Amino acid sequence: TIAGPCGLVIFGVTGDLSRKKLMPAIYDLANRGLLPPGFSLVGFARRDWADEDFSQVVHDAVKAHARTPFREQVWDRLAEGCRFVQGTFDDDNAFDNLAKTIEDLDHIRGTAGNHAFYLSIPPAAFPVVIKQLARTGLAAPAPDQWRRVVIEKPFGHDLASAKELNDIVNDVFPEESVFRIDHYLGKETVQNILALRFSNQLFEPIWNSHYVDHVQITMAEDIGLGGRAGYYDGIGAARDVIQNHLLQLLALVAMEEPISFNPKAVRAEKAKILAATKPVEPFVETTARGQYTGGWQGGQKVPGLLEEEGFAKDSITETFAAITLAVETRRWAGVPFYLRTGKRLGRRVTEIAVVFKRAPHLPFDDTSTEELGQNALVFRVQPDEGVTMRFGSKVPGSTMEVRDVSMDFSYGHSFTESSPEAYERLILDMLLGEPSLFPMNDEVERSWEILDPILDAWRASGRPEPYQAGTWGPDSATEMLARTGRHWRRP
Ligand code: BG6
Repeated sequence: TIAGPCGLVIFGVTGDLSRKKLMPAIYDLANRGLLPPGFSLVGFARRDWADEDFSQVVHDAVKAHARTPFREQVWDRLAEGCRFVQGTFDDDNAFDNLAKTIEDLDHIRGTAGNHAFYLSIPPAAFPVVIKQLARTGLAAPAPDQWRRVVIEKPFGHDLASAKELNDIVNDVFPEESVFRIDHYLGKETVQNILALRFSNQLFEPIWNSHYVDHVQITMAEDIGLGGRAGYYDGIGAARDVIQNHLLQLLALVAMEEPISFNPKAVRAEKAKILAATKPVEPFVETTARGQYTGGWQGGQKVPGLLEEEGFAKDSITETFAAITLAVETRRWAGVPFYLRTGKRLGRRVTEIAVVFKRAPHLPFDDTSTEELGQNALVFRVQPDEGVTMRFGSKVPGSTMEVRDVSMDFSYGHSFTESSPEAYERLILDMLLGEPSLFPMNDEVERSWEILDPILDAWRASGRPEPYQAGTWGPDSATEMLARTGRHWRRP
């Protein structure tokens, strides 16, 4: 579907996210013919730029990071709709200029009064920008127009701050006009979780505590935090990705079937499952927290967190976090959900493994239970997108020996269609007013509520445990599972 007449204003236009993700995604949408002809892109920042300087920045970002080929004609059309408004967030004049610019665009480009405001800025700046949008009337559309606000994470740093932000935002924008970005929900493989679960007869009958032993959700990254101290120091791995991406993945794996795929129905099921999700205590045994030290990765020597530029020399920010959650419903009673994430780990991989119980009895003389792993269904979110099933199979030969094998579905092999980048999908959905892939205020608040007790315990417990770059995290993470007779998968 092509978006109707509209424009997008980006705050924080000089940031990394704008350059690497937002601008390229907008170009790719234009290139695929999914933006309206008169689409306009307004940048708002402190720099002393003219419209041409701004469109040059967009141009360079597109050239460097867009996924689709560069076509002059598409670019020229997009560039004609680029405007820049200079100012700081507390500058009334600048926001009056913004209002004027938008009004002009409605006449010149035919954006018809439909505008989205993308807040790619630190949360501390949300309140003042939201207030400015209210003051200038930019937040209030005429009856046949729409105004939307798009909010990047981090959405607060705990429950109280998230509530405060929600209040400020919802005071000015009604909830249906608020689009909170969790870019994991824009990933094709993540959307496939619900398709796989609910379009097949195969999986759902065994998707419960009778058959599932536990679920492991891993988001491992090989990159370090060089250059990101400003955002990351004091935030840490749990707030950065568990509160949002990983809890959303848990919700999709664990939720009940929605009565339809309409946004309300899907979000209601997600909210229900998050409400039933609780951290498991005692946290010294059920969680792990680490910080990377120098080491080798991909044949290169890399510094530890405390040597990275901008981090406090005594920073206790965790770069690895693992937690245990229980989902207190009949379906999941007694099934632990283990979530882990870390920087500078062995390799970049995100996967969800549903690990099944062992067969109750093995009638084979030549095979011991220890040799045979547990059946697992693994959603490979990235980089090698697909699904893997692990099961036992007879080893060819005269004895009845059984060994684990894998059956793979790979997007690359099964489909010729390419998947849009997550931001492309989400920006288009937002312009179309389609909210399914955006977490609502109650989901965000509930996610903090789940995490807060763990964060409190960690704060009281001093330094995170060091782990060497290029390994799979601190020893306490291994112990945390070993205590229950389980182990982490090595993706
Ligand atoms: C972001 C986090 O939300 O996701 C980053 O803030 C992380 O720390 C990034 O690197 C990973 O995204 P992706 O899509 O590469 O898995």
